[in-house]
Amino acid sequence: MDRHLSLSQAARLIGVKRTDIQKKIQENKLAVMEGTVVLSDLKKAFPDATYEDNTMVEKMEKFMQDAVHKMAQSEREGAQVDGLSRRLVKLNKELTDEKARANQMEELIDGMKQKFMELKTNPIQENSFNEIKSWFNTALQALGEEKLTTPVQSLENQIKQFMLPHVRLLPSRHDYISDKSETLLESALRSGLAVDYGCNNGKCGKCKAKLLSGKVEKTVHQDYVFSESEKSQGYILTCSNTAVTDITLETEEAVSSDDIPLQTINAKIKKTHQVNDDVMILTLKTPRSQRLRFLAGQHIELSLKPDNEEEQAIIAEYSIASCPCEPANLEFHIPTRANEPFANAIQNNLNSNIKLKGPHGSFVLNEDSPNSLIFVAWDTGFAPIKSLMEHAMSLEQAETIHLYWMTTKVENHYLDNLCRSWNDALDNFTYTRIMCEANTGVVAESLMSHLHEEHSHLLNFDLYIAAPGHLNHLLKPLLISHGIKSQNMHFESIFHGDEITD
Ligand code: FES
Repeated sequence: MDRHLSLSQAARLIGVKRTDIQKKIQENKLAVMEGTVVLSDLKKAFPDATYEDNTMVEKMEKFMQDAVHKMAQSEREGAQVDGLSRRLVKLNKELTDEKARANQMEELIDGMKQKFMELKTNPIQENSFNEIKSWFNTALQALGEEKLTTPVQSLENQIKQFMLPHVRLLPSRHDYISDKSETLLESALRSGLAVDYGCNNGKCGKCKAKLLSGKVEKTVHQDYVFSESEKSQGYILTCSNTAVTDITLETEEAVSSDDIPLQTINAKIKKTHQVNDDVMILTLKTPRSQRLRFLAGQHIELSLKPDNEEEQAIIAEYSIASCPCEPANLEFHIPTRANEPFANAIQNNLNSNIKLKGPHGSFVLNEDSPNSLIFVAWDTGFAPIKSLMEHAMSLEQAETIHLYWMTTKVENHYLDNLCRSWNDALDNFTYTRIMCEANTGVVAESLMSHLHEEHSHLLNFDLYIAAPGHLNHLLKPLLISHGIKSQNMHFESIFHGDEITD
């Protein structure tokens, strides 16, 4: 019988990105049924996915045969062997690729040595020789220190990942890797999954999930008591257990902002950082027993009660700039221009608690969409955009991600280095910095001219824009005329930032 694979399993099996598989599906070159593909179809869609060096696989096949022998009585455990085999095949392919790259580098070095010898025999070119020698030494050093070690480190990480248990969630079919140093809940959140939870310390029972296969181990004490019926069905608390083997869990995940409850949490100020004259980055720490549950892109009310009892609480609403995968540390980009009262209150009351009420807003990622992503931020509209981008990156679903960050002056790209580092590190990420006059018409024209130049049409894109409301209003028809479907456009009206005039 032909094997059905989830997209993540298929990607791991043949050593391609999940987005490559999604692309084949979009092009109707690969059939998908209830989120799975059939192995024989996968082979036809990726005929070049071959494994040149089978040494590692052969060794591990022997290991697998021994393992299969030991586990023959249990089909459930046998399924884990399948998982190991798939991951080994992927590692083997990566090892083969790295060997090929190392061979190419050796050839390059031999060729250069030969050239040096030729140049050295010609005295007229002695200067050129010295120049090339110095360049070569620098290049060699760089290769030795960075490029040669990076693939090795990446391979080491892959091997570590291979050793860790994999978790599959049903009915969503989302997969993640469970680190034994974390609970199942912590690993799920770090992987960007919006699973249900509350207290995070075994009391409320909100994180309960049904264990359908595999083994878990309790790592944290739990007070919550399961009913006899729950016990017999195999329920566990994800905040108190870690995975020992590959496991399958049945649990609910939030898919829209309606699935996230309103919460009130007292947080502490962990850090403030004045990144330029106009913006302060505020980091709040939530208690371990009260992490904030939110979706990337949402905003929340912050209320600060000054130390002086007679002063009124200062209340303001800001977008959360961090990813839900980091629920313990929440980041906000607070404008400090024009004596913003909330910013002043923070500077004067660094030891005070800040009460969080929310989250609010439906400016969230459409995780079911197979489209590539374009993000546009005006000034501190970068905060919700950053949260959305970090979430999209942790999901690894989008084929490409393009960020346009628009401001009036260069220093207002206050996290420029972060965006550049994404640009350098991720092969599917592009960062475009735009500076223009703060006038609605000029800003719209400038953005549209970039979009026309860099994307011939926007048919297969989802677009997320965080900018002042009147700019969003002007952009909508212009974007539709450039091919985007209205249901694929998502707007957030920012309250703060450089004012744009009409
Ligand atoms: S989150 Fe409360 S028991 Fe797990």
